[in-house]
Amino acid sequence: SDVKDLKFLIDSTRPNAVPEAYIQPLKYRPAKSDRASSTRHDTIPVVDLAKLKNGLRQDVISAIGSACEEWGFFQIINHGFSPLTGQRMLEATEKFFNLPVEDRMAYFSLDMTKPLRYGTSHNPTYDSALQWRDYMYLPCKLAEENVQTWPAVYRKEALDYVKEMNNLKEMLLELMSESLHLAPSTLRNVLGPDMLHNMVLNYYPACPQPDLTIGFREHSDKSTITILLQDGIGGLEVHHKDCWVPLQPLKDALLVNLGDVMEILSNGRYKSIAHRVTVNSNSKRLSIGSFYNVAYNAIIAPLPHCVDETHPLAFKEVMFMDFFKKFVSRDLDGKNALDYVR
Ligand code: SIN
Ligand code: FE2
Repeated sequence: SDVKDLKFLIDSTRPNAVPEAYIQPLKYRPAKSDRASSTRHDTIPVVDLAKLKNGLRQDVISAIGSACEEWGFFQIINHGFSPLTGQRMLEATEKFFNLPVEDRMAYFSLDMTKPLRYGTSHNPTYDSALQWRDYMYLPCKLAEENVQTWPAVYRKEALDYVKEMNNLKEMLLELMSESLHLAPSTLRNVLGPDMLHNMVLNYYPACPQPDLTIGFREHSDKSTITILLQDGIGGLEVHHKDCWVPLQPLKDALLVNLGDVMEILSNGRYKSIAHRVTVNSNSKRLSIGSFYNVAYNAIIAPLPHCVDETHPLAFKEVMFMDFFKKFVSRDLDGKNALDYVR
């Protein structure tokens, strides 16, 4: 087919205006009006995991608990994930996007359920306006036959990255379980041995008119938890108290956010919060999301411990696969996929 990605369009035409197909309806543009004003001081929480080694585990657990209830997002610092592993993965990601367009497009598919897949915008089959983004999705199971399917240009770097990220994920699931007053192994057991782990490598080119388009429209993640590494450019905004709060990326920090499955498991106590990505005229931006989730055929429902007389059952049970398919069979229109199981 003659479909190409956004990077090819930009490299080959050097547009000084946003092409019509990428102009977003007003409600999805990054209007200044609903940005948190500079006089508002609430910022996305930062949790310092060095405290775990200083006998302050309970402090960390309660900081994570309040971040999960109030924001659904937090940055972590001193997390033990090697900055070098992250840096190498970002560099390898950039190499992938610098491959000849045919080499990138060799992985292209419009089938959103295909785990190893190159894509552009979000879901071009349904997108009512294109988003300013290209991305590579890959399944992260460490089995040799899976790893061999990864593009050679970042295979080694991704392998190191996934191994380290898995350790961090274990630690975060323990801390989150404890913050919900559950046994430390609870969330790990819910995800189980067949958990889904996917990674997305995002490339947002510099944009001549960033106010007319968007890198990623507002959405909530379908994951249980997402761990994001990004370069220093910024652009992610989190919906909080009716405003979009821009995230200032801290050096060597990672961003953690909760997805819809965590909201369901916690019976609504922890929130899967809408976020979006704006673009800018100065620089491209790279980010890498690691999505950890239950198995496709798992039935998700609120954990019994999170349901009681004051917190009545808030979600119906649903097979994760059915929930996910609802998400990928429509335009990214800001509608809450959770409505489907309420
Ligand atoms: C996403 O929401 O999945 C993308 C996050 C980002 O690029 O910062
Ligand atoms: Fe997201």
